[in-house]
Amino acid sequence: MMMKLTELLGIELPIVQAPMAGAQGSAMAIAVSNAGGLGSMPCAMLTANGLHNELESIETQTSKPFNVNFFAHAAPAADAKRETAWHAVLTPYYKKFGIDPAGIPTGPGRAPFSAEFADVLEVHQPAVVSFHFGLPPEPLLARVRSWRSKLFSSATTVEEALWLEARGVDAIIAQGVEAGGHRGMFLSDDLTTQIGTLALLPQIVRAVKVPVIAAGGIADARGVAAAMALGAAGVQLGTSYLLCPEATISAIHRAALKSEAARHTALTNLFTGRPARGIVNYVMQELGPINEAAPAFPLATSAIAPLRAKAEADGLGDFSPLWSGQNATGCKELPAAQLTRELAACL
Ligand SMILES: Cc1cc2nc3c(=O)[nH]c(=O)nc-3n(C[C@H](O)[C@H](O)[C@H](O)COP(=O)(O)O)c2cc1C
Repeated sequence: MMMKLTELLGIELPIVQAPMAGAQGSAMAIAVSNAGGLGSMPCAMLTANGLHNELESIETQTSKPFNVNFFAHAAPAADAKRETAWHAVLTPYYKKFGIDPAGIPTGPGRAPFSAEFADVLEVHQPAVVSFHFGLPPEPLLARVRSWRSKLFSSATTVEEALWLEARGVDAIIAQGVEAGGHRGMFLSDDLTTQIGTLALLPQIVRAVKVPVIAAGGIADARGVAAAMALGAAGVQLGTSYLLCPEATISAIHRAALKSEAARHTALTNLFTGRPARGIVNYVMQELGPINEAAPAFPLATSAIAPLRAKAEADGLGDFSPLWSGQNATGCKELPAAQLTRELAACL
């Protein structure tokens, strides 16, 4: 029998609030951990100093375990040719909005886990450190292990789950293709390898010995119970938390999640360079959802940022990443603590 997440971490509920970079900060993590689940602090868009401040804030407001999440991608070399090609694709839209491409500032990129982040973590030693896009290089990972934080990472295929288990992770997040936000895929960039949660979860559960956390398209208490019945040690939900008051997404994003538009999502690389699931909008229909010219992750972020800013100033989400999983029916305008307890109601 696989160890349940509640036993592994000494928490009350096997509910993980998914880390969501750009969509929440410490307030949501604190609320969920205090409610008995595992709150998560996403750090991909933070500086080391920002990380320190958020961790201090969490530690003063909860004594419960929480998760600190990082991306583990290799930072790509800048590719001037590809940047030029991508700017050419975007030029008609720059013209329409009167944007001077030469003046485009570098947008909020996403930084991989680094020695600088490890220095900050060492002071705080959180109960859980989780990664997306594989794992950081072994010397950095060894530092995290040395202070006995539990290590989690996402797998989108059985091969990725076996790879993570062989490197000693304490739990694997089985991320089905329904999931909102970035695909955690790291051994292959072939999107045909990506399968749904109901198919992925039991295959990973059978293949590994470590606890498996189900993620992707799970939106209510019955969905949580179903994942547990399939052998999950816990369940990680992201999209369902996006309408909570603690979420920091825009009014445009909130309105899209509440609308019928949320029924139609797709994987797109237009906003960052890596496939991520969001509500289909104007730019995804015009240029994608997948466009080969988009620069490598996370370099695609900056070129689209001014278009997003201009459209949002007009109240439009035409160029915004409206991250959402395939099932937004669990989004409720409830405090994250209450939502967490409701999600565990059928257990
Ligand atoms: C807005 C948003 C941002 C996300 N950002 C991250 C992130 O920073 N790190 C991470 O590991 N996963 C991230 N994810 C993926 C989640 O961890 C999780 O796999 C996903 O939310 C589960 O599917 P669901 O959205 O259908 O519940 C994000 C998901 C969303 C919706």
